[in-house]
Amino acid sequence: MDVALTGATGFLGLRLVRELLGRHRSLTVFAHAGSDSALGRITRFLELTDTPPELIAELPKRLRVVETDLGQPRMGLSAADFERLADELDVVWHSAGNINLDDDLAQLRRVNVEGTRNVLELAAAGCRRPIVNHIGTAFVGGARREGVVYEDELDDSHGFENGYERSKYEAEVLVHEWSAAHGRPVLVLRPSILVTDLPAHPELPEHPLRFIDQILRASLSTVGLAEALVPERERPVMRLPGRPHGHLNLMPVEHAARVMVQLADVKASGRVDTYHVVHDHDVQTTTITALMELLVPVRVELVEKRLLDPSPLEAMADLYPGFTPYLSHRRRFDDTRVRTVLGPELSGIRVDLDYLLAGVRSKQTTESSPRWP
Ligand SMILES: NC(=O)c1ccc[n+]([C@@H]2O[C@H](COP(=O)([O-])OP(=O)(O)OC[C@H]3O[C@@H](n4cnc5c(N)ncnc54)[C@H](OP(=O)(O)O)[C@@H]3O)[C@@H](O)[C@H]2O)c1
Repeated sequence: MDVALTGATGFLGLRLVRELLGRHRSLTVFAHAGSDSALGRITRFLELTDTPPELIAELPKRLRVVETDLGQPRMGLSAADFERLADELDVVWHSAGNINLDDDLAQLRRVNVEGTRNVLELAAAGCRRPIVNHIGTAFVGGARREGVVYEDELDDSHGFENGYERSKYEAEVLVHEWSAAHGRPVLVLRPSILVTDLPAHPELPEHPLRFIDQILRASLSTVGLAEALVPERERPVMRLPGRPHGHLNLMPVEHAARVMVQLADVKASGRVDTYHVVHDHDVQTTTITALMELLVPVRVELVEKRLLDPSPLEAMADLYPGFTPYLSHRRRFDDTRVRTVLGPELSGIRVDLDYLLAGVRSKQTTESSPRWP
């Protein structure tokens, strides 16, 4: 079976590569043209995560790297290469994406929507009618902050918290239209926020929550607070709009990749089959604020409404407005379909403050850890 993967160098994609290499002899990687060597980055990831050296030595033979730009028609390939590749494939995993919540909508659409369109065209052109496994996000649920989001729901009636959510929603709509027009099955896998406790490393993709550390650190230094010198009782208060009884779903990325390849083995209905790839327990918003307080010397207070009188520190800390609304979320993602087909298998991984701190904190914080609890 010939399997291809987009986004193989990403936070999730690297874990999918590892899972897929465990099941398939070879893998075609649609790498991002112009980025650093995909083979080099995949090799480094596997080296840093205790992969047997025999597997690493085989990588150049088992991985075929094809340079692409998904935002371009035919993924930036010549017509001949596009047709030839399409005809060689049985399965296309589409994990590439732009996950910067606040990027310009046109930029987000270029990769997330047009990129998906171009991957679907590749699948439509293939004489073997390759199966498409599309990585979506549970956050196509949009700006609905309460209640339960079900796996078969896809509507924009609640609006979206940021451009990223909107672009991923539009990509899923495309997937449904394509499936109906071509009579082809598509597997849509919707993870929640992906996390790991693997410590940050300059040669690994950035942890999706790392921005918390970066923004807080930058904000403190901009307002002239040298973090290491602030004693506990003098920590500045930082008010953030959010709800202390809110909760978010954070899914260990390694487990998510494992669940995804298992779901790909389930018999398809022939249409779009959508699954929420989520953790069995949500994390309280107060765990996120406690994480902030461990990363930098501030005291975080969640307040009901957006601040009208932000302090200089609070104004600086609001540099990532796409994320702040999630501190007010209290919805749950239903994953009945996953449990029905895979059984009630749980990850056994507890996503708590220690887990999050291990993956999010920077080397700088680690070095100064004796100063923080
Ligand atoms: N991370 C999360 O918390 C999360 C949660 C829910 C859903 N998801 C979804 O999961 C998927 C993977 O996310 P991730 O966390 O792995 O993201 P990531 O770490 O930012 O990786 C993005 C991947 O896409 C590739 N890429 C970006 N633009 C491209 C282009 N124009 N042409 C070809 N390749 C391109 C990147 O290649 P380079 O590195 O070479 O640029 C990289 O391999 C995305 O579809 C995302 O929406 C992620």
